[in-house]
Amino acid sequence: MQLVETIAHVRELRRQFSGSVGLVPTMGYLHEGHLALVRQARNENSTVVVSIFVNPAQFGPSEDLASYPRDLERDLKLLDEQKTDVVFMPSDEEMYPLGFSSWVDVEKVTERLEEASRPGFFRGVATVVAKLFNIVQPTKAYFGQKDAQQAIVIKRMVADLNMDLEIIVVPTVRENDGLAMSSRNVYLNSEERQAATILLKALTLAKELWQGGEKDAEKIRYQMTSLIQKEPLAQIDYVSIADADTLEELKVVDGPALASLAVRIGKARLIDNMPLG
Ligand code: PAF
Repeated sequence: MQLVETIAHVRELRRQFSGSVGLVPTMGYLHEGHLALVRQARNENSTVVVSIFVNPAQFGPSEDLASYPRDLERDLKLLDEQKTDVVFMPSDEEMYPLGFSSWVDVEKVTERLEEASRPGFFRGVATVVAKLFNIVQPTKAYFGQKDAQQAIVIKRMVADLNMDLEIIVVPTVRENDGLAMSSRNVYLNSEERQAATILLKALTLAKELWQGGEKDAEKIRYQMTSLIQKEPLAQIDYVSIADADTLEELKVVDGPALASLAVRIGKARLIDNMPLG
């Protein structure tokens, strides 16, 4: 496994790779969700590149950039076990040198859900992901379904800007009690950790209602909201039943839809989702 810190070095290695290259972009502090992406990349490509970069451009001023969990030594051990070929771990200066002033703004799909609470988040994500695609030039890049809106935004960017790669979205990996794996779960104490199971319970309720024939999106949102409000530690940020492609809120669920939510529990802001249809 090669550890690489500069863009020039990645480019030099890239010229030597033959066959397909799978890229897994991460911010480190890896968990089973990330490893599922790396495993799939390993199964489908000749070369696997994983990037570890806590991207300052996607954190708002009041967000947890400085305290974002990091454990590089452990990450590298896990990636080595998965037979990763290259780990790209650039510095902030390497990615955003003095004078940096070009940004990727994906419109429409970024205007809802996460963007309301995290203005500028998707601009930071799209910009860093576009840079990683330009640097690594992967055949395929892997993202988790847990960050459903992020995956939709990246697919939109790839289509709109004619980027020559395939985006693979890998199903959410969950803890035994159903909590979606996330690096930020580490912020939860044991009581909050227990309360966090309300997210999957609300999504499961949405799915059950929909499978039972409920088509009225507002009724589904209402039932989900009422369930979450029974959990005293949970503070709802949003509860959404939206079109699975455009993320526009639905009145009637009559095609592929996405139930999604963001809930604050203690210091953590947790997101999760479940496709309906
Ligand atoms: O999902 C993440 O960890 C980040 O948003 C990503 C895609 C690595 C970009 O910084």
